[in-house]
Amino acid sequence: MTSFRTLDEAPVKGQRVLVRVDINVPMEDGKVTDATRIERVIPTLREISARGGKVVLLAHFGRPKGKREPKDSLAPVAKAVSAALGKPVAFADDCIGDVAAQAIAKLGEGDVLLLENTRFHAGEEKNDKAFVAELAKLGDLYVNDAFSAAHRAHASTEGLAHVLPAYVGRSMQAELDALRKGLEKPARPVVAIVGGAKVSTKLDLLENLVAKVDALVIGGGMANTFLHAEGVNIGKSLAEKDLADTARRVLSVAQEKNCAIILPVDGVVAYEFKAHAPHHAYGFDAVPTDGMILDVGPQSIERIKAAIDDAATIVWNGPLGAFELAPFDHGTVVAARHAAERTKQGKLVSIAGGGDTVAALHHAGVADDFTYVSTAGGAFLEWLEGKDLPGVSALKVP
Ligand code: 3PG
Ligand code: MG
Repeated sequence: MTSFRTLDEAPVKGQRVLVRVDINVPMEDGKVTDATRIERVIPTLREISARGGKVVLLAHFGRPKGKREPKDSLAPVAKAVSAALGKPVAFADDCIGDVAAQAIAKLGEGDVLLLENTRFHAGEEKNDKAFVAELAKLGDLYVNDAFSAAHRAHASTEGLAHVLPAYVGRSMQAELDALRKGLEKPARPVVAIVGGAKVSTKLDLLENLVAKVDALVIGGGMANTFLHAEGVNIGKSLAEKDLADTARRVLSVAQEKNCAIILPVDGVVAYEFKAHAPHHAYGFDAVPTDGMILDVGPQSIERIKAAIDDAATIVWNGPLGAFELAPFDHGTVVAARHAAERTKQGKLVSIAGGGDTVAALHHAGVADDFTYVSTAGGAFLEWLEGKDLPGVSALKVP
């Protein structure tokens, strides 16, 4: 990581350290239901605190669009951060102005404070200079540990990096290291596995991947669009038939770039989109006209496993079938477990990300066995699309 300054170089002792975290966690009835994002930033907070820094956390929650929405308050999240950290986390009712300044003035070395939702101010999403200056007044140093918000060029994710000495936090550092292993400097062959419902939402991603990886496995609903474009009768399966030309274009670019495309060769077909619907595996010469393909079939699973065996690196985004409905989770689960097994044997670097994908890996019981699982949704996708992430770019040392 030569192009970034890490915490190793941050003189935090006695300093007010503004730490941008992404603790935009799912909540129900005022309780955090998945604390993964909180857990990921704990090492950074512990380290700064142990080295005598005053930790001032900046974060967003929900999409309040510049208004003070009580339902988007970070106050309940402060409690969850405190529980994960094992020490008190103070809370201030505003992220700028006297309220914030006074709370910070009370901090001793090693103390931790969370400021209220940055998105309660319109200047946050506008990356407004005056708002950046208001935030900057509160700190001596800036640490960004919010990779999953790095696709947003907001005041607290991007603007601050230009006005304070800026450093990469530990979870951002781990994320950047892992992603580099995934596409920038990967061990080859690299196989990308892309699933999910729609081609339309992942077109940029597919186009970027075919130019970079050695093979692309396509599964999930989006595979149906490709199959249809190739003339396969997919019955009543979910597909974007108007994107047939687009799908054919992706396939021809893949051919130009020497990227092998691995489409399913058979599918598990049901007549209703519901769990445990009666189902049967069919080859693609025989899909019933009133049937829906809800998962990859047994021969396809064997092909995908073989592709994983051939790979030194896999990058995975999106489930291979309707994984939320048993037993149509089968293909995704088998492939995930196979990748996990190869990873444990030291034969594979496996990198996965995106909300559904992480849920699928947890469901398969293998999230901890992958080399790296990104907690980022949009930011991971934009990285896969080859786009510049403003929150990351701003941290680069020229
Ligand atoms: C996320 O949950 O994906 C990040 O926290 C970014 O949130 P946003 O999509 O509302 O910008
Ligand atoms: Mg999002």
